[in-house]
Amino acid sequence: MTHFLDIHTTDPADLRAMIDAARRMKAARRDLPRGAPDDEQPLAGRMVALIFEKPSTRTRVSFDVGVRQMGGQTMVLSGADMQLGHGETIADTARVLSRYVDLVMIRTFDEAVLHEMAEHADIPVINGLTDRTHPCQIMADVMTYEEHRGPIAGRKVLWSGDGNNVCASWLQAAGQFGFDLTFTGPAQLDPEEDWIRFARDRGATVRIERDPLVAAKDADLVVTDTWVSMHDAQSARERRHNLLRPYQVNARLMAEAKPDALFMHCLPAHREEEATSDVMDGPQSVIFDEAENRLHAQKAILRWCLGV
Ligand code: CP
Repeated sequence: MTHFLDIHTTDPADLRAMIDAARRMKAARRDLPRGAPDDEQPLAGRMVALIFEKPSTRTRVSFDVGVRQMGGQTMVLSGADMQLGHGETIADTARVLSRYVDLVMIRTFDEAVLHEMAEHADIPVINGLTDRTHPCQIMADVMTYEEHRGPIAGRKVLWSGDGNNVCASWLQAAGQFGFDLTFTGPAQLDPEEDWIRFARDRGATVRIERDPLVAAKDADLVVTDTWVSMHDAQSARERRHNLLRPYQVNARLMAEAKPDALFMHCLPAHREEEATSDVMDGPQSVIFDEAENRLHAQKAILRWCLGV
């Protein structure tokens, strides 16, 4: 069974093939109206279940549109509306869904739910975000970097802020795609040691630098994310804001990076908190290309999972 659960558990050659396929599929749509089907229809006759236990704009719409462009059909399910939220085991849910649909994409809280789903499903399962990782986002981000600046291998990526689930997938990608990553943020919000070790074991240089202006020196890419993620308690909001305020991505920080450095944010953003609007809307920002590339990258992931 070919699941897409995380970047660190997917073969680097497969990751590369998916990025390249995504770029080819994007190019093939260049002259098509947005709602038109792709010339190729590899998902014709396939049904995909999209399960959301957390809110989503990009993941929900991009998966739905992507499946339809490739000729498939989708059903979007809220975890709360399924028996999943009312005591049925994940294993039983996985076995039942396997009798109806061809693939499941799930966004959930605890990654144990994702893994249990994958273990008991007879169909591919895709990680649409857990509290711990967000691999589809980083596939789109690597694609976006390479579209603008060429190969990401050997580049210097700066993560500024919270060492959260998106940062975790960036660290995994550093190991798999061969780039260096500097984390700058408060020690209380460091990324998990597991992901730092994974990237280093794969030969990537991972630095932790508490001074954001020192950390930003010569960066090729500056990335940040919200200060309070979906899985963080709202009661921690003020404390997190106080800790993270020095790590805001603003013009002063971007000035330390390379002149042609790009800026990324997976969105949704809280403008003027983790990043200022002049950076988000400035010439170095590629945030809406990232959002668009969710569509193309995930279409490649779907095809890889289904072998079509
Ligand atoms: N970046 C991202 O996953 O966006 P959504 O939460 O809107 O899906």
